[in-house]
Order: sequence, then C-alpha cells, then structure tokens
Amino acid sequence: MAYRLRSATASDQPAITAIVRAAGINPFNLHWPRFLVAEADVPPRIVGVAQIKAHGDGSRELASLAVVPDRQGEGIGGALIQALLASEQGPLHLMCRNELEGYYVRFGFRALHPAEMPPYFRRMTRAADIFFALAARFGGKRHITVMRREGMFLTA
Ligand SMILES: CC(C)(COP(=O)(O)OP(=O)(O)OC[C@H]1O[C@@H](n2cnc3c(N)ncnc32)[C@H](O)[C@@H]1OP(=O)(O)O)[C@@H](O)C(=O)NCCC(=O)NCCS
Repeated sequence: MAYRLRSATASDQPAITAIVRAAGINPFNLHWPRFLVAEADVPPRIVGVAQIKAHGDGSRELASLAVVPDRQGEGIGGALIQALLASEQGPLHLMCRNELEGYYVRFGFRALHPAEMPPYFRRMTRAADIFFALAARFGGKRHITVMRREGMFLTA
C-alpha cells in the first residue's frame, strides 16, 4: 500500500505523540519540526515517524522511530531511516533495545562500548541501567544498546 515521506507539519503533532506513546518508546522531546513522517493515502493518516535530535554535547541521535502495528514489516521504518541518513553527514547515534541491534546493523550502525559513547549517551545508559534494574524487581527486563553510524566525511 502506498505511502509518502515528508517533513512533519504542526498538524501532525497529535499523531506523532500518539504513535510514539503507543509504541512504548521514549515519550519526551517529540517536537514536530524535527520529524519526518510517512503518510498513507487511503485512508489518509500518519503511519510512521522518526526524528533527529541534537544534544548539548554536539552528538546527534536518530530517535522516536515507530511504525503503526498494522503497517509494520513493509519497509516503512527502513525508508524513514534511509531518508534521515541521507541528510546526515557526521556521526549519528541511536539507543535501542538489544533485540533491535541486528535491524540497525543493516543501516551501518554498530554497538558502542560505554567508553566510546558521547557524554549524553553515557549519562542516558547509566540512568536506563538504574531504571531497568529497578523494573527487573517487578518482572520487567530490558537492556539498552547505544549504536553509532560513522560520518561520511572524506579525508584528503
Ligand atoms: C522497529 C520498527 C520501527 C521497524 O519498522 P518496520 O517498518 O516494521 O521495519 P521494516 O519494514 O523497515 O523492517 C522490517 C524488519 O525489521 C525487523 N524487526 C522489526 N521489529 C523487530 C524487533 N522488535 N526485533 C528484531 N527485528 C525487528 C523485522 O524482523 C523485519 O526483518 P526482515 O526485513 O528480515 O523481515 C517497528 O517494528 C516499530 O515501530 N516497533 C515499535 C517501536 C520501536 O521499537 N521502535 C524502535 C525504537 S529504537
């Protein structure tokens, strides 16, 4: 079924927020101007979203990638990633659950050791470790991986 990718507009904000929340991923910092959306024609609706976040330490993050459940597995997530990668020249990071590591390897990302992480991601993984250690006491179990795709700069 057809869809097209476009930059988000202000009227997409409710759909962006709803799709990210329903996907159970980080619900913070979902401001529409940073988002790329996938829009289906019939019926007209947003079926996938993703953004690039810029952090205070200079690092950039592919974040908030989510596709509505009934349109998963059609390549929409991959198309959103490829389109965002096309506009990024420098290194790009992401945080994901361990089981998604293989998915992102396809797009040139590799998992980082904590010593390789920019400060923002080191802080976030420390916080996530504490959070998930507490959650594990109530039966939840999750591990977060930080990955990086190196920049496309050419050296002389
Ligand atoms: C992850 C997600 C964005 C992928 O979007 P999508 O449009 O379904 O992905 P694509 O169609 O481009 O690719 C599908 C591939 O991803 C793989 N994949 C999807 N979810 C996966 C998961 N949880 N673990 C491992 N692989 C997964 C599928 O196995 C499939 O592999 P195949 O091509 O070998 O069959 C989508 O499943 C989603 O929205 N999940 C919930 C939110 C989420 O976890 N987001 C990622 C935050 S880091």
